[in-house]
Amino acid sequence: MRFHVMTLFPEMIENAMEVSITGRAIKAGRIALNAVNIRDYAQNKHNRVDDYPYGGGAGMVMQAAPVYRCYQAIDQEYVLKEKKTRVIYLSPQGETFSQKMAQELANEEDLVFLCGHYEGIDERVLEEIVTDYVSIGDYVLTGGELPALVMMDTISRLVPGVLNNDISAQTESFSDDLLEYPQYTRPEEWNGKKVPPVLLSGNHKLLAQWYREQSVIRTAQRRPDLIQKADLTAKEQELVKE
Ligand code: ADE
Repeated sequence: MRFHVMTLFPEMIENAMEVSITGRAIKAGRIALNAVNIRDYAQNKHNRVDDYPYGGGAGMVMQAAPVYRCYQAIDQEYVLKEKKTRVIYLSPQGETFSQKMAQELANEEDLVFLCGHYEGIDERVLEEIVTDYVSIGDYVLTGGELPALVMMDTISRLVPGVLNNDISAQTESFSDDLLEYPQYTRPEEWNGKKVPPVLLSGNHKLLAQWYREQSVIRTAQRRPDLIQKADLTAKEQELVKE
């Protein structure tokens, strides 16, 4: 997976991606990061990329030309258009990001993220290059960098070989519309609280039952909206009914 990010703050993208699991994945060559500064494609003395909005109003708008030149430069190097590479514009007006969307995007060879700032980007260049409009939730950030990072982090851990254990990406929260069961580590007793005895039993069948039951109970308590969608047995439906 190769991520291309068109941004005014490439160092924000690089600094966040080059640590922890994504950092390790970059070093191991499982994912690649190509953060490109849109300002490098300004063609004026002060490297300006924004201007006043036609029609007036508050704030500034990012100009079409530098964004387009930036895209063309990436396309020239990686032949994105020919490969029909998806170009994602981060915007509160987009479809809401989800684990399902992440799973679908994780199959792509390249992904381009376009991060806006100020009051937005000239509509004409969006029409020209953007294939997907994506929001990370119903709130407004100052720019698209954090949303792009949220998406890249989520997608990265679904790329084979990025997590040390491929099973963990599949058995956790949301992959089956259930939240993850609670986790414990040593010591066996802390602050007067004991680890649930079943976790010390070594009985795999009992463990699997306990994990599933805890996931169902937890989802019903914390995310009643999700439990509606989950595929529960008759016994489990009884368990969460009150
Ligand atoms: N840019 C500003 N707010 C955003 C959001 N909620 N999602 C994606 N991009 C954004």
